[in-house]
Amino acid sequence: MELIIKDNGQVASEAAARVVARLVHEKPNAVIGLATGSTPLMLYRELIRLHKEEGLDFSQVTTFNLDEYIGLLPEHEQSYRRFMNENLFEHINIKMENTHVPDGMAEDVPASCAAYEQAIVDAGGIDLQVLGIGSDGHVGFNEPTSSFASRTRIKTLTRQTVADNARFFENDESRVPHHCITMGIGTIMDARMNIMLAFGENKAEAVAATVEGPVASIMPASILQHHANAKVFIDEAAASQLK
Ligand code: F6R
Repeated sequence: MELIIKDNGQVASEAAARVVARLVHEKPNAVIGLATGSTPLMLYRELIRLHKEEGLDFSQVTTFNLDEYIGLLPEHEQSYRRFMNENLFEHINIKMENTHVPDGMAEDVPASCAAYEQAIVDAGGIDLQVLGIGSDGHVGFNEPTSSFASRTRIKTLTRQTVADNARFFENDESRVPHHCITMGIGTIMDARMNIMLAFGENKAEAVAATVEGPVASIMPASILQHHANAKVFIDEAAASQLK
């Protein structure tokens, strides 16, 4: 695991964007795994800038998002599909048909999850996966005690995550969907490279446990210690509890 500590999230995100850009230059048809939430927004802004100002070409890129809430239509203002369209896809030259987000409205959720796994395999596997981290150490929506062998499946959000995400639902926890579809930890570990971003003091404890603690399913992100090519981009605040 390589730890990259920068003064602030902007500088860290620019460094992470350079890793993504290098991959796309070297492999124009790269397969990239993406995350939502507040953390990757600066990364996506920088990728948009690189596209607009430096011609970074996404025309052959394929993407797979980590997760989606169950029961939200793609056009719902808090669906992760809409988040990705508005914060990245509509601003770069990616083909919409090459972008994949789990289907939160699927009638047969297990079949839809299996198809998502198969689509990743058919695309050649994920070259680079972007990750955030929850304050409880979750990656994707793989909450504490998720199996390290897990694949794309339905999960129940913990009370902590529902509380954390209520800020996107008018601070009303009852509006936060309680179920989601998420890539599994096994799916994430199959990516050839993982880049995790974490900014701010409320991530410091999870970052310290991920980087320096034991590898344990109670801290899902800690499995990245066993990944052959994992980079963790953090700011000073998120680094504040490292030894
Ligand atoms: C989102 C995802 C989640 C978030 C995590 C942190 O696709 O996979 O694991 O990365 O909940 O969220 P933020 O960045 O909003 O603090």
